[in-house]
Amino acid sequence: MKPIVNIVGIETSCDETAVAIVRSGTTVLSSVVASSADYQANFGGVVPEIAARAHLQSIGPTFDQALEQSGLALSEIDAIAVSQGPGLVGALLVGASFARGLSDRLSLPLIPVNHVHAHVHGALLGLSKDADSLFPAIALVVSGGHTNLYYMPSPCQFELKAYSIDDACGESFDKVAKMLGLGYPGGPLIEQKALAGNEKAFAMPKMMADNKKRIFSYSGLKTHASLLIRQLAEEGKGTLSEKSIADLCASFQREAFRQVISMLGEVIKESNSAVNSLIIAGGVAANRYFQKEVQNAISIPAYFPHPSFCSDNGAMIAALAWHQRHDSGIAQEWDVFSRYSF
Ligand code: KG4
Ligand code: ZN
Repeated sequence: MKPIVNIVGIETSCDETAVAIVRSGTTVLSSVVASSADYQANFGGVVPEIAARAHLQSIGPTFDQALEQSGLALSEIDAIAVSQGPGLVGALLVGASFARGLSDRLSLPLIPVNHVHAHVHGALLGLSKDADSLFPAIALVVSGGHTNLYYMPSPCQFELKAYSIDDACGESFDKVAKMLGLGYPGGPLIEQKALAGNEKAFAMPKMMADNKKRIFSYSGLKTHASLLIRQLAEEGKGTLSEKSIADLCASFQREAFRQVISMLGEVIKESNSAVNSLIIAGGVAANRYFQKEVQNAISIPAYFPHPSFCSDNGAMIAALAWHQRHDSGIAQEWDVFSRYSF
């Protein structure tokens, strides 16, 4: 059988229609992302039906562009990888159907990939050293849908150590930004406002101080922020001053990341230095304040994705697919309805 080198990665789990072509799991030959986020912002978040229809419109042109940018001919593609979930079912089905059509037409293997796991490999794209040397690793995926902490003995083994029992970390940023009328997606907007704020201005509830339970929780912090916003609005006769907004964003952001960093510290300590690296991925990993706090608090080498590979993209899908084929021999079940799995 022909060796698998060049893989097309297709991602349509939420509001990004993304296609990339990656060589040997790490060299990105092309990566194209068409997002419906600006349009979805009119509704304050992602509307699944709108996302699915936008994917349908964008998937063909996005693939054509990715192929052209890669400089490859169709005959040089060795496999098609696609995000199988978790995600919005209607949105996933567009990518899955397109991928299946391509693989049938070109007689190429179809590799289903777990979207959340793939984020971890987004942090390793373009790495100059051998990715295998980073394992065993602790990996954290912080996105709009997940706050998942894994112990990873090797690139394709994911042992879930902690997860959020309510809102995901990014989701809490989105909700607080919406309450403040800042817009969507909320993470970058809160980070920006926080730059001018005092992070100690407002006391925030310490979430899940008992980290032995190995869970994250964001709903208490979010509710506290909403009560604070209401109180400040009443005091300001309906409006919040720029200073109050900046202080609130900074205080919220500090606490949102404190629980993650404290859990990371504990899990790494528990591993008795049997981990070579910390890998942090997902949309929230783009937060510069968070990156700095992690570097200050954690002593083992930490890897974050290039900004263009923090949010959803096709390259991370192709990268994990390559490892699935080369490292592990793990047979992935084709299950497009696995949206509720971790
Ligand atoms: O990984 P991603 O693109 O999509 C999911 O799989 O969820 O992550 C999107 C999430 C959103 O909640 C967004 O607000 C958050 O990542 N995000 C950030 C930042 N940039 C994106 N959160 C905090 N700070 C940021 N700079
Ligand atoms: Zn994602």
